[in-house]
Amino acid sequence: MSCSKIPQIVLKSSSNQSNMPLIAFGTAAVTNNDGEITKAAVVEAIKSGYRHFDTASIYGSEEALGEAIQQALQLGLIQSREITPDPEIRIFGSLFDPLARVWIAMEECQKLGLTKSIGVSNFTCKKLEDLLSFATILPSVNQVEMNPVWHQKKLKEYCEAKGIIITAFSPLGAKGTMWGSNEVIDSEILKQIAEEHGKTVAQVCLRWLYEQGVSMAVKSYNKDRMKQNLEIFDWSLTRDDHEKIDKIKQIRVNNGPFAFIPDIWDGET
Ligand SMILES: NC(=O)c1ccc[n+]([C@@H]2O[C@H](COP(=O)([O-])OP(=O)(O)OC[C@H]3O[C@@H](n4cnc5c(N)ncnc54)[C@H](OP(=O)(O)O)[C@@H]3O)[C@@H](O)[C@H]2O)c1
Repeated sequence: MSCSKIPQIVLKSSSNQSNMPLIAFGTAAVTNNDGEITKAAVVEAIKSGYRHFDTASIYGSEEALGEAIQQALQLGLIQSREITPDPEIRIFGSLFDPLARVWIAMEECQKLGLTKSIGVSNFTCKKLEDLLSFATILPSVNQVEMNPVWHQKKLKEYCEAKGIIITAFSPLGAKGTMWGSNEVIDSEILKQIAEEHGKTVAQVCLRWLYEQGVSMAVKSYNKDRMKQNLEIFDWSLTRDDHEKIDKIKQIRVNNGPFAFIPDIWDGET
């Protein structure tokens, strides 16, 4: 599959309403997070058609991702956007900084053209409501856990109403990681749906997210699985499949690094 086959999603509050490829390549790897492994996986992902990469300083993948993009440019796999980044500019916000201070600095970056879009992650409806009370630019994206065992119905409706795109992380329940579980991949309901379509459980999860109208970040450093995870656009789930998935018992799989913060999720389910 070439990158042109990955649908794009419009980021309404970005400058010039930029597009973003609907599937991102995740780089949170606790085992296999050696720089060379990440770099090789990202180059392979670019060859497979991924053009949207999710990274964070906490993953330790930023440097390897940058090197992989540089290698892909040298190999002629991708074209440069010809943006010269200023190495002195680094935006660093954390949960412990006052939200308004960080957000206003991020808005400034978008206004200066240093970034096309700004967004948030792990924001509840309440946190978004707080942000929207002073923001002059809406977040383009709110990246949160979403998968067939954690539907995020309320947050999804809220974001849709405000024009904020949800990007689903841990779309497969982060199987095999220290922050995830097998709850999604081992679901008997999903296995049955997958069998009926001749697809894998992973593909059913990603297709379901696509049909929910959200974007997603999925991680696989395995060449076959990273390709498999893009093969979700030429088939569809039935109404019956959706009804079955609607009935799956809901559990937040990924409490990630936030489990120690009291009521980080503001009591929202
Ligand atoms: N903002 C946040 O707080 C936050 C939190 C968590 C994650 N994220 C981002 O979202 C990305 C994705 O989430 P995630 O890594 O937590 O979990 P995930 O994508 O749901 O699951 C990753 C796991 O599933 C396996 N896998 C991938 N494709 C598969 C397939 N087709 N069949 C079977 N197994 C498959 C991977 O192993 P292999 O590599 O061996 O295939 C890996 O063990 C992260 O990498 C990160 O970039 C953000």
